Amino acid sequence: MPKVTFHFDGQTKTVEAASGEKILQIALDNGVGIEHACGGNGFCTTCLCNVKEGMANLSPRNDREENMGIMDDPERLSCQAEVEGDVEIEVIDY
Ligand code: FES
Repeated sequence: MPKVTFHFDGQTKTVEAASGEKILQIALDNGVGIEHACGGNGFCTTCLCNVKEGMANLSPRNDREENMGIMDDPERLSCQAEVEGDVEIEVIDY
């Protein structure tokens, strides 16, 4: 199972996730707060995160990320990026 490490609020937490799960859902299921004003539909960017390690272990950027201008590393929309292997995520506070 992929391991996902979150850095948030000065804390670090590593959890296991099912392959294909989205970063946002993994975070919320494990008590890691990520804003998600549009409900995880790819229309707001409040769930933006930085990928510190493992960008190649995420699904490729999709149309919704590209429409929101999230084109460059290390940024991803956590509600769109699916975990396919180990990743390390920095949660961005708003
Ligand atoms: S929750 Fe709105 S873009 Fe991800």
